[in-house]
Amino acid sequence: MNTVVPTPPASLIRGTNESAPLQMPQLGLGTYKVGVEQVERVVRDALDVGYRHIDTAQMYRNEAGVGAAIAGSGVPRDQLWVTSKLNNPNHRRDDALRSFDATMEALGLDVLDLFLVHWPLAASAGIDLVDTWRTMIEILHSGRVRAIGVSNFQPEHLRRIVGATDVVPAVNQIELHPWLTQSELRAMHAQMGIVTQSWSPLGRGRLLAEPTVVEIAEAVGASPAQVIIRWHLQNSLVVIPKSTHRERLAANADVFGITLDDTQMAALNALDQGLRTGSHPDQIQV
Ligand code: A2P
Repeated sequence: MNTVVPTPPASLIRGTNESAPLQMPQLGLGTYKVGVEQVERVVRDALDVGYRHIDTAQMYRNEAGVGAAIAGSGVPRDQLWVTSKLNNPNHRRDDALRSFDATMEALGLDVLDLFLVHWPLAASAGIDLVDTWRTMIEILHSGRVRAIGVSNFQPEHLRRIVGATDVVPAVNQIELHPWLTQSELRAMHAQMGIVTQSWSPLGRGRLLAEPTVVEIAEAVGASPAQVIIRWHLQNSLVVIPKSTHRERLAANADVFGITLDDTQMAALNALDQGLRTGSHPDQIQV
């Protein structure tokens, strides 16, 4: 099988030049828990079927496999968006700079598209979150990353780093799906010009059996995964579903011929119950 899915629309995000926003593909591949033994094959399959946005992290320990897949893919660098994230023990300036170098080495890239603070956990490294953000700004100004952002930040974290530096994160990547619609953060992001990115967009696959999702999938002639991915896209969210299966990767990205109507979107919005499948930012441990 060699299905190539259509190019997804781009979400405009803030880079160093405010008047020329960057274009991040609105749909990408998440690689959390895609282990070292399979990540190269999974990313190769994803690039082969048409994905042009790959999300990894220092914490996932799979950046080298992602890099190997990119290097072997033949996809021109300017057609690919790559995101990685600063790991929790690396918030101190020296550790952040050193680990960023290691990320670039593992990925085999000269310039990264987006680098995120993975969790707001500076205190565990004995420093203030504002100091972490200042180091991220230093990395941005080095020219080796096109945009910087954060992940799992709560409103008070965003207020603090922006209040202290005046540099607004391009993105906040948070757990977000129909069981956890994150309306407060999304409203704040919209106000501040921060793009919202959804992690665990399928609720780690658990949402696929949700009766409302299954019912809508039957009505529109799509799979439950495609319905949920459409829900993210139609809500202007950047979505990074993960699959280790080539045929699912292709199907998950082949969603641009499907449209959910207002009633279907409202039914999915109404599933919100504040249910997390991952850690709460205030409770996670390093
Ligand atoms: P698999 O890797 O076996 O395909 P999330 O992106 O919310 O973290 O969800 C990822 C989970 O959803 C994985 O367990 C993945 O399993 C599963 N998944 C992703 N796409 C599909 C699909 N189209 N059909 C069934 N399961 C899927």
